Amino acid sequence: MTHEAEFPPELGALNDMPRARLFSGNTPLQPMPNLARACGDRGEMFVKRDDCTELAFGGNKVRQLEFYLGEAARRGADTVLITGAVQSNFVRLAAAGARLLGMDCHIQLEERVAKDDPLYRSSGNVLIDRLLGAHLHSYPEGEDEAGADRQLGEIAEGLKAEGRTPYIIPLSPGHKPLGALGYVVAAHELLGQLKADGLHIDEIVVASGSGNTHGGLLFGLRALGSDITVTGICVRRDAEAQRPRLLARCAEIADLLGIANKVTSGDVIVSDEFLAPGYGLAGPACREAMVLGAQAEALMLDPTYTGKAMAGAIASARSGPSGRAILFLHTGGTPAIFAYQNDMLAALQGG
Ligand SMILES: Cc1ncc(COP(=O)(O)O)c(C=O)c1O
Repeated sequence: MTHEAEFPPELGALNDMPRARLFSGNTPLQPMPNLARACGDRGEMFVKRDDCTELAFGGNKVRQLEFYLGEAARRGADTVLITGAVQSNFVRLAAAGARLLGMDCHIQLEERVAKDDPLYRSSGNVLIDRLLGAHLHSYPEGEDEAGADRQLGEIAEGLKAEGRTPYIIPLSPGHKPLGALGYVVAAHELLGQLKADGLHIDEIVVASGSGNTHGGLLFGLRALGSDITVTGICVRRDAEAQRPRLLARCAEIADLLGIANKVTSGDVIVSDEFLAPGYGLAGPACREAMVLGAQAEALMLDPTYTGKAMAGAIASARSGPSGRAILFLHTGGTPAIFAYQNDMLAALQGG
């Protein structure tokens, strides 16, 4: 798979970063006229289809993994280790990317969501993790990033003792934000598409979890001179906790690429309006968004990330200033729909 890997000098060392090509680039940018109509026809709506990043059901993490797995390959790793929630898309895609590169994968699944539904533990991403032959481990806590990383470190030590060369994709903050580089690339790609199509976008709405997608996109847009508003919809922690995380992430990206950070504090917009009842659980606006996304635009949205982000895009289209163009960044999460089948059915019944 080949990419045109030529980035302008404004993006600093991006051309020189190790990168494993996991998809063919340029995800579709599509209009959403039916959804715009359903939101009162007050402006235009578009979707950037990062659910179509090809690898094993796709998603935003494919872009991020290009840089993590590029670094793993550079270091001669033969095994990748990663931690995440039981229905993590990141761990599923890490296992898939590792397979493409001929590596093994150890996945640690954390108890982050209080759900007894057996489908949550066996279907969706978990089923795919198993199909990919990943080694599954569990971690009893869902809110202990440092502890989860520590346990991954212990598993890695055991693998080293067996003669393997492990590479850990870290969860906790304070590590090089390699994943965010995937979204600096995406900002460059998007601006190229907008120019080619003669489109103007006022606001991008995106799920904000680790902040690598939101932060990388915002950093890349500002570095390239774009002032498009980027609204991050909190999916993991509230706005008060997410804001400083985003600011730190942007400063870390600037360090990594050796360029100025053009993101100002006013650029970091986060909303936790759709976070309740919490990570991995859908509230009423998220449920409505999942149904509307499917029935207006045939988009498959999940209860943890994209349903909440779409609820944010819909709210902005319905009640923000009129005459604007809003772009929803579809970050994937498709397999989780099957693990959350019972919640999806409840959403359909208006529950
Ligand atoms: C489908 C999906 N969307 C959005 C996100 C959030 O992205 P980030 O962690 O880069 O903020 C994730 C994170 O796992 C995800 O799986």
